[in-house]
Amino acid sequence: MEDEKNCTRHGREITDIDRAFDVQVRGVAVITTSLGQKLNGMSAAWISRVSEQPFLAMVSVWKKNFSHQLISQSRIYAINYLKEGQQKLAIHFGRQSGRDVDKLKNVPYFTDKTGAPILCDCLAYLDCKVVAELDAGDHTIFLGEVLSGKVIGEGHGLQYRLSDYIEVDSGS
Ligand SMILES: Cc1cc2nc3c(=O)[nH]c(=O)nc-3n(C[C@H](O)[C@H](O)[C@H](O)COP(=O)(O)O)c2cc1C
Repeated sequence: MEDEKNCTRHGREITDIDRAFDVQVRGVAVITTSLGQKLNGMSAAWISRVSEQPFLAMVSVWKKNFSHQLISQSRIYAINYLKEGQQKLAIHFGRQSGRDVDKLKNVPYFTDKTGAPILCDCLAYLDCKVVAELDAGDHTIFLGEVLSGKVIGEGHGLQYRLSDYIEVDSGS
């Protein structure tokens, strides 16, 4: 989420604390939701399983993202784990806002229990309903109960690497 000037996308200088956080191996997913006819998805790396039983997941969403507004109201989201080689899709969902473009326009999807779009071309998905949210600085953590989930692709998960996302301004 940083650029080559050693600043975050939001203009803050990258510190040793950022670098320490970034040694953690993290997968990349697209977090999708739907509110009425409005569908959207955003890339995310700050996601995790947080309970053995019941099945609970969390995603940390920047408060200014369009997805934040939608998930706050819809109370549903799906975690779509990407596969190795899907960096372009991560950039498509992670470098432009659903306020400006319909990011799902040419992306095939289906729905499961919650109605959040599930990307046909992903490694695995978790379909969640929001059961709690926690104010987390400039982000909100949405805790989701997993209502269904499945591995639908083959291969390995896409890992977050800063070098995959530098020198990218917008779009895919
Ligand atoms: C690889 C990658 C990981 C990202 N991880 C997160 C994340 O965990 N949380 C977040 O709020 N934004 C994250 N972003 C940024 C959002 O995907 C980005 O701001 C997106 O354009 C928001 O779209 P929206 O306005 O349609 O919701 C990430 C972007 C990329 C490319």
